[in-house]
Amino acid sequence: MSQAPFSEVLRNATRDDHAAAENQDYLVALLAGRLSPEGYGAMVAQNHFVYTALDRVSRTLADDPVAAPFVLPELYRGEALARDLETVYGPGWRSVIEPSAPTLALVARIEHVAAWPGGYVAHHYTRYLGDLSGGQFIRRELRRIYGYGPDGGADSYRFDAIGSIPHFRREYRARLDALPAGEDERLRIVQEARLAFRLTTEVLADLGRTVRAEPAA
Ligand code: HEM
Repeated sequence: MSQAPFSEVLRNATRDDHAAAENQDYLVALLAGRLSPEGYGAMVAQNHFVYTALDRVSRTLADDPVAAPFVLPELYRGEALARDLETVYGPGWRSVIEPSAPTLALVARIEHVAAWPGGYVAHHYTRYLGDLSGGQFIRRELRRIYGYGPDGGADSYRFDAIGSIPHFRREYRARLDALPAGEDERLRIVQEARLAFRLTTEVLADLGRTVRAEPAA
């Protein structure tokens, strides 16, 4: 049995996948201020489909002993993403968004793992802990670049209901470390988190191909 805390195992095993996601042209252009508000909205729209699926699966797992510590309604992103989309596209936002092929693949995978609590945790970790980590930096940059106020625009990275984010992240890692999973199951969860990163990277790569960015200075 490996004695390393599972949160560390996960973090180390996904380090390269994280770098691949973070370095996508789309995100680089976004954070360099080279995308229009609608160009940014294209990612928010894809996130809307992904988190609607993740939040829906969360609700189905609320009574599962393995998944329950991760089923935290204060993390649900559906309403915040809707506010952000309304800020970018106006009240008719629902009629201008559609899922890309990579988004449909990620959503299908999230729905598939609803039957496997460990797999659900892998996707939960990849997206929510990401939003609570680098996402906080992204939010500050979005507010600076697009001038969004405290409400709407970058709310999907805002987690008022959880209190101190560093404290929450520590508790989250403790929940990962306490997962009742043997060595084989841990390995499967690590593989699923890597898949979650890769599928997310595909979504970003697609955005990089379809969203027009201003040339780098
Ligand atoms: C430009 C985009 C991104 C930036 C600048 C960024 C930055 C960061 C930083 C600085 C951390 C470490 C925070 C800390 O330990 O205090 C982090 C953690 C994390 N990020 Fe990102 N990130 C980006 C994109 C992403 C994406 C697209 C995903 C998901 C596919 C993601 C998932 C994660 C996860 C799961 C963690 C937690 C790692 C752990 O501690 O176990 N990040 N990110």
